[in-house]
Amino acid sequence: MPVVTIQPSGKTIEVSIGTTLLAAVMKAGEAIANKCQGKAECGACHIFVLEGRKGVSRTTPAENAKLDSIVGVGSKSRLACQVIVGEDDVTLELLNFASGR
Ligand code: FES
Repeated sequence: MPVVTIQPSGKTIEVSIGTTLLAAVMKAGEAIANKCQGKAECGACHIFVLEGRKGVSRTTPAENAKLDSIVGVGSKSRLACQVIVGEDDVTLELLNFASGR
């Protein structure tokens, strides 16, 4: 099973293929905002995917549109609720960890 590593805590969790990064983070017990319950509408689950970007699902038009409206977006930006884990391990960085605790 692929392993998701969550920075900055360094916590790791094994997930099934097909799991979203949002679900993986929540399963690991880390704080992540998800105001729209995973519909790519709120942008609150914005994260950076540091490693394993090629192994996850591609960005959808809805995700791209939402990312375009978020300040601080970079080349590693994704919406955690829209990223589906494949066979490869993934390392992500939470961006809202300071306010989520
Ligand atoms: S939870 Fe709202 S965009 Fe991901």
